[in-house]
Amino acid sequence: MTDTAFTEAARTVRDHGATAAIDCAIVLGTGLGGLADQLEDAIRIPYAAIPGFPAGGVSGHARQLCIGRLADKTVLIFQGRAHFYEGGDAAVMRVPLGMLQALGSPPLILTNAAGSLKPEMPPGSMAVITDHINFNGPNPLVGDGGDGRFVPMVDAYDPALRAGLGRAATAEGLSLGEGVYMWFSGPSFETPAEIRMAQVMGADLVGMSTVPEVILARRFEIKVAALSVVTNMGAGLHGGAPHHDETKDVASAAAIDLARLLRSFVREL
Ligand code: HPA
Repeated sequence: MTDTAFTEAARTVRDHGATAAIDCAIVLGTGLGGLADQLEDAIRIPYAAIPGFPAGGVSGHARQLCIGRLADKTVLIFQGRAHFYEGGDAAVMRVPLGMLQALGSPPLILTNAAGSLKPEMPPGSMAVITDHINFNGPNPLVGDGGDGRFVPMVDAYDPALRAGLGRAATAEGLSLGEGVYMWFSGPSFETPAEIRMAQVMGADLVGMSTVPEVILARRFEIKVAALSVVTNMGAGLHGGAPHHDETKDVASAAAIDLARLLRSFVREL
């Protein structure tokens, strides 16, 4: 599937000097932007300078595209994402992901801050997402045309990429949980009753992002995996009273482990 908005965004990136083939793309979520500072020879482009990219921002999100070298690979980092809760558009990340397709469909790793429903994944820990539940409901492909919109979602979270993330965690001596991520719209956090419901429905993690991006990535035939950094226990669970300041603080501390994990992952690509 192509779209002139995608090729225009890709052209803007190339016009800024990012012409090398991209080995991997990464979306860094709330408070997790630090890895972008580790890129060597980085080209940084504010989202506002790329046609079709979402404007605006949330505290804890810098919102720029960074392309540079990490562990001897060329990596494109989306430093900050746009969320459904900012304007009610599930397809708000359509052009950034369509641009990735226009840039050659490199594998994509999404990251997010999430609430945990499992005591064995406490705040500060990391987890690889195995599957999701679109509890929020809206789908970014509503209004999309053609049979390509009927995107299969078995193994949407690419098993080979997930295995690579697991090997990187082992190599770095980092523990990495795994679980099903349930998408809530936000921006309010869940109620304790909603968290109990999420547990019954089979979720392990809750958050306000990632799911629409995974659906878009699969639409564009981009291989995708996702990592959660647990910033808090779900509302009402032991110690669970989520707050945005806590999300940002815990994410910033865990971002160091996340950066080690991703650097090691990228090296082995
Ligand atoms: N709920 C939803 N989103 C989140 C949470 C949470 O508990 N923590 C970080 N992002």
